[in-house]
Amino acid sequence: MTKTYERLQKCLECVRQVTDFVPRIGLVLGSGLGDYASQISVEATLDYHDIEGFPVSTVPGHAGRFIFGTVADVPVVCMQGRVHYYEGYTMEDVVLPIRLMKMMGADILMLTNAAGGVNETYNAGDFMMITDQISSFVPSPLAGPNAEELGERFPDMSEIYDRQLKERIRAAADRLGISLREGVYLQASGPNFESPAEIRFFSGIGADAVGMSTAVEAIAARHAGMRVGGISLISNPAAGLSKTPLTHEEVQEAADMASHKFSQLISSVIKEIGGIN
Ligand code: HPA
Repeated sequence: MTKTYERLQKCLECVRQVTDFVPRIGLVLGSGLGDYASQISVEATLDYHDIEGFPVSTVPGHAGRFIFGTVADVPVVCMQGRVHYYEGYTMEDVVLPIRLMKMMGADILMLTNAAGGVNETYNAGDFMMITDQISSFVPSPLAGPNAEELGERFPDMSEIYDRQLKERIRAAADRLGISLREGVYLQASGPNFESPAEIRFFSGIGADAVGMSTAVEAIAARHAGMRVGGISLISNPAAGLSKTPLTHEEVQEAADMASHKFSQLISSVIKEIGGIN
């Protein structure tokens, strides 16, 4: 057994000591969805701290947890708090929770985040369905010995974001009358925001939004055979596209302002995708 898989199995054992819950969908809650738990009929929760071998932040109170429950009768496991590369973790650590959700039984992954708008037509508060991604500026989460139990050495990435999920996400937004952009997400390493020159460069190579998570999670999920969907909340125009310097507070405030609409959209998406085969 590979080391990666052995570690995951230990994590899974910790989960199974708390709950037998088998999710259909793994949902990663980004900024703006921190309170999403109120939309879930919660059956169990598990703090990351209580999972042996799980990468947890050493900052007290910042660890996060899994929430197990149903949204419109669809069994979901939510990550309230994700693991970021900029915190100093290896990419293998960063994607461990994604792989663990797959091992719990989730075959669909819905990724959400707050992101900077690189596309000049985007405004703060817009939602963007992720259609493709650029992860070339961060290490691959698959580097190192391949975890054969999870997937192949050289997985295809020609359609990371699932076609059927994209259709359902469009339909969910439509039904709510929420307008949805569609674009390419680029993962930068963070924790610093980008320079205006970097944003011009990212725009030139086809990015519409920039953030510090998500793309590597999508790669690990595809490697393990999950179907992936993604939605970004555009929290700010990226560096150089507005007159004011960027702050974490601005990102957080925009995310909080959009949180009600974001929650509605995600619930509607889960209803739409919960029954697909
Ligand atoms: N850059 C990178 N990550 C982000 C941004 C940004 O402008 N906004 C929210 N997350």
